[in-house]
Amino acid sequence: MSKVLDEIFSKAKLLGKTIVLPEGEDKRVVEAASIAAKKGIAKIVLLGNEADIKSANPDVDLTGVTVLDPVNDANCDKYAELLFKLRQGKINKKTGLPEFAEVSDAKKAVLKDYTMYGALMIKSGDVYGMVSGACHSTANTLRPGLQVIKTKPGTKLVSCYFLMVAPESGNKYCNDGCFIFADCGLNQNPTSEELAYIAQSSAESAINIAGLDPKVAFLSHSSKGSAKHADIDKVVAAFNLFKEIAPDVKAEGELQLDSAIVPEVAASKAPGSLVAGQANVLIFPDLDAGNIGYKLVERLGGFQAIGPICQGFDKPINDLSRGCHTEDIVATIAITCLQ
Ligand SMILES: CC(C)(COP(=O)(O)OP(=O)(O)OC[C@H]1O[C@@H](n2cnc3c(N)ncnc32)[C@H](O)[C@@H]1OP(=O)(O)O)[C@@H](O)C(=O)NCCC(=O)NCCS
Repeated sequence: MSKVLDEIFSKAKLLGKTIVLPEGEDKRVVEAASIAAKKGIAKIVLLGNEADIKSANPDVDLTGVTVLDPVNDANCDKYAELLFKLRQGKINKKTGLPEFAEVSDAKKAVLKDYTMYGALMIKSGDVYGMVSGACHSTANTLRPGLQVIKTKPGTKLVSCYFLMVAPESGNKYCNDGCFIFADCGLNQNPTSEELAYIAQSSAESAINIAGLDPKVAFLSHSSKGSAKHADIDKVVAAFNLFKEIAPDVKAEGELQLDSAIVPEVAASKAPGSLVAGQANVLIFPDLDAGNIGYKLVERLGGFQAIGPICQGFDKPINDLSRGCHTEDIVATIAITCLQ
């Protein structure tokens, strides 16, 4: 296991947090619940029908895992009422009608969508965080959190990063053993202001989760004015705003990828910069660049991509890739405990 992950697991074990996993129907989630509970990474609440989960996973030892069936949960009405209250005045985009006319409609919704159930458990303070998305899309995983958990004070938006862990053999452009890449999962075409807030959250995640001294690069197809385009102007404006909202964080922009991480290129394209050539937090200009970028580094560079990890939520919720493995879920549970 990499040093970065090793430290994340050790820190999580000391915290004793409770994490809800709403996808009891997914074998990988059930296995991850078992491993996380057994290793003492977190206390786990797995949502679903206990008999169904056990009969579908006879080989998995669920000792220490709390299996909770929302259908028979005494708190179900409390969560339905909370959802109804939180969403009052909200209009359903498809129907043009209020989202919930009655509490009974909210109850139907929580029993239909266990990710919403998990989000309401967090909102009520009954669990600390949630990991979901092994068998649901990113949009369906994050929407309940966006609707009821909302952003934490001081943050304008929720965004998603990947913790890119260098291969065991090392990588000559990765001095710290890992990078933070953002936004790779949520905000499709962020404005300058949104990019600056994505960078601010990413710098905080670099410190709190990865234990890095953040050096933030605002990526572009231009380095310090080498090209001209409105897309570059957006990145430059984001960098300038970032300097105002996070004056103590080392940052540089706009930089091409090689100017950001290759010292020799940085020396000619951004001479004198304290960040160029050694950046460890890479901020991509849009979701296309971020999503393609992390997959290139994962597939061609042999890095382990952990995430998408959400930042900016008032309480921790994390999405999983639907292609995830059991060990990715266990790692995401540990990261959620640290958020
Ligand atoms: C997450 C996503 C589904 C939200 O879009 P949506 O369902 O149309 O939802 P809306 O835009 O109506 O927003 C729903 C709520 O979330 C809030 N919200 C949306 N994006 C947000 C963000 N980035 N940060 C904080 N809040 C946000 C909205 O303000 C809204 O709140 P309200 O209902 O209380 O008024 C959308 O951003 C998305 O699809 N992103 C891409 C995800 C993706 O496909 N990733 C693939 C790569 S892994």
